[in-house]
Amino acid sequence: MSITSFSLNNFRNIEAATFSPELINVIYGENGSGKTSFLEAIYFLSHGRSFRTNKHRSVIKDTADYFTLHAKKRSNNLTIPLGLKKDVSGETQVKIQGKTSRRISDLAQVLPVQVITPESYSFFFGGPKERRAFIDLGVFHVEHDFFVHWQNFNKVHKQRNALLKSKPANARAMLDVWDKEFVRLSETITKLRESYIERFKALFFDRLCTELDLLNGLDIEFNWGWKSDESLADILMQYRDRDLMRGYTSKGPHKADLTIKTSLGPVENAFSRGQLKLLLYALKVAQNSLIEQETGKQSILLIDDLPSELSEDTKSKVGQLLAHCDSQIFITTIESDSVSAVLDALDKPTALFHVKHGELITR
Ligand SMILES: Nc1ncnc2c1ncn2[C@@H]1O[C@H](COP(=O)(O)OP(=O)(O)O)[C@@H](O)[C@H]1O
Ligand SMILES: [Mg+2]
Repeated sequence: MSITSFSLNNFRNIEAATFSPELINVIYGENGSGKTSFLEAIYFLSHGRSFRTNKHRSVIKDTADYFTLHAKKRSNNLTIPLGLKKDVSGETQVKIQGKTSRRISDLAQVLPVQVITPESYSFFFGGPKERRAFIDLGVFHVEHDFFVHWQNFNKVHKQRNALLKSKPANARAMLDVWDKEFVRLSETITKLRESYIERFKALFFDRLCTELDLLNGLDIEFNWGWKSDESLADILMQYRDRDLMRGYTSKGPHKADLTIKTSLGPVENAFSRGQLKLLLYALKVAQNSLIEQETGKQSILLIDDLPSELSEDTKSKVGQLLAHCDSQIFITTIESDSVSAVLDALDKPTALFHVKHGELITR
């Protein structure tokens, strides 16, 4: 699956641009020329939002009232036109194959897009939310029923917390009822997550790590959000007084996390920045490969500022890793030369685009 043509109008500093991407695409130019904006536009057409801001006004060109994005996507010899228009009032119009679509989430189904930015490394340093989202994104794509169970769990979790906060006289009797549903849904989504992680780890360690010696001694552990050798019903009972005092649920799948360790301790302390970047690529590539293997869906990969902080040797390894997935890839860099090692290792059809003050020049 790939985008064969893409047009933007009045998006950030880009007044108008049209280009025909290859399998691998390098967008290069000075700071502030508009490189990240091109990635942001592709992401916007998939997610209906930016990865940089929640303020739609800042994405629309300062001299305009709306922006438009159009793409042609090809998969299995079928070309699907996609379009999105967003105006200053915040109204969004989505068209898929010429038909107006009311749900923005339809876009992500037709055009799955993932992004890696220099900020993505908070994956290792930040709280568990991002790591949980990483697991859930994978499970969402490969397990049809996951999203519904996950939505239902969130509802029950919210209601349980509301009860813990308001503490009505019959709170304990009501908790007895809510907890049954809480446990049932927790077990369902945790089973799906666990089975996904098992398959993910098999692919990650068998296929990717053999090539990347730096990843030796690495271990990935999935924490359910409660002690997996105890029953969640018992744990909820143990924590009931504490939960009532604090007004929220201490244990459950909303606390799930991934722990990534090396023989030298937690990965965020043991690895250098360059090694962590390589590891992040490996995790994303493994996820893409697994989704593709199980559903046939390929995600487009956007990589902002790829070469920063990477040695030539690590860049080659990134290239070798990326060669593992058949995804269409968009890379930004200031100098096109600084991604040569990546492109050599990738060895796939590549297009170079030079951006100057929001204008695109194909090389
Ligand atoms: N809504 C907007 N209208 C016009 N220009 C904008 C808007 N938002 C950002 N810019 C400008 O767009 C330029 C491109 O930004 P960016 O894509 O981040 O550049 P790069 O990634 O090449 O460093 C910046 O100079 C920024 O000031
Ligand atoms: Mg940028």
